[in-house]
Amino acid sequence: MPVSIKSQQEIEKMRVAGRLTSEVLDYITPFVKAGVTTNKLDQLCHDLIVNVQKAIPAPLNYAPSGHRPYPKSICTSINHQICHGVPSDKVLRNGDIVNLDITVIKDGYHGDSSRMFYIGEPSIQARRLCETTYQALWHGIRAVKPGAYLGDIGYAIQSFVEPMGYSVVREFCGHGIGQKFHEEPQVLHYGKARTGLKLEPGMTFTIEPMINAGKAGIKQLGDGWTIVTKDHSLSAQYEHTILVTDTGFEVLTVSDGCPLPTP
Ligand code: MF3
Ligand code: CO
Ligand code: CO
Repeated sequence: MPVSIKSQQEIEKMRVAGRLTSEVLDYITPFVKAGVTTNKLDQLCHDLIVNVQKAIPAPLNYAPSGHRPYPKSICTSINHQICHGVPSDKVLRNGDIVNLDITVIKDGYHGDSSRMFYIGEPSIQARRLCETTYQALWHGIRAVKPGAYLGDIGYAIQSFVEPMGYSVVREFCGHGIGQKFHEEPQVLHYGKARTGLKLEPGMTFTIEPMINAGKAGIKQLGDGWTIVTKDHSLSAQYEHTILVTDTGFEVLTVSDGCPLPTP
């Protein structure tokens, strides 16, 4: 399947889905604190998406080949969990860092975004990892324009984080997005400038670097979903859904509460 170019009507629907996705993250922010369970966060987000937004939480029962259906409506990945952490009765504690990854389907189109949250005061190391990962996402975003290459995005991210001693997770990547949750192309968070697919206006894809404080190696837990660092080092991730415009990029997963772009 080739990479789809979205029409103006499709882009408008992607803007709506993207805004709703970001608004879920805004809504849940005050609840993400010590003592809450990730199941409670899942339930609150699910209810907002279904009852208020009249939308669909894309993760619920999502079953790509080789996977059992995902059992929850959001992903909650804590500390050394890299991604796809499954909400549970586990209580968030002071000093934890947690990624909440939200994907909403509205009017047939997907928005996909994630942010890191601090529970109380994080360690200096944890804060630095999260801030660097956020900057890494923006280095990737700023590489997006017509005529640039997918490899430029990966290169921008990798060349920013590796000199700091961090590593880029290889097994998971950003992805085309639209009527499907995961479409072509794959957007690697490492690579060589001026290689790979050439970007064209109307392409929509996510950028979602997963950055480890230690080595890049990963392990999947017995639940069939949760991915953790093999060396148990901390991991962070931020994600936006991006449109390639005639002159550069537009971030589709925006809302009043979404963190500002880095300078
Ligand atoms: N939201 C994730 C992504 O950014 C995918 C989660 S798949 C799920 O691509 F089934 F775990 F929800
Ligand atoms: Co994604
Ligand atoms: Co996501």
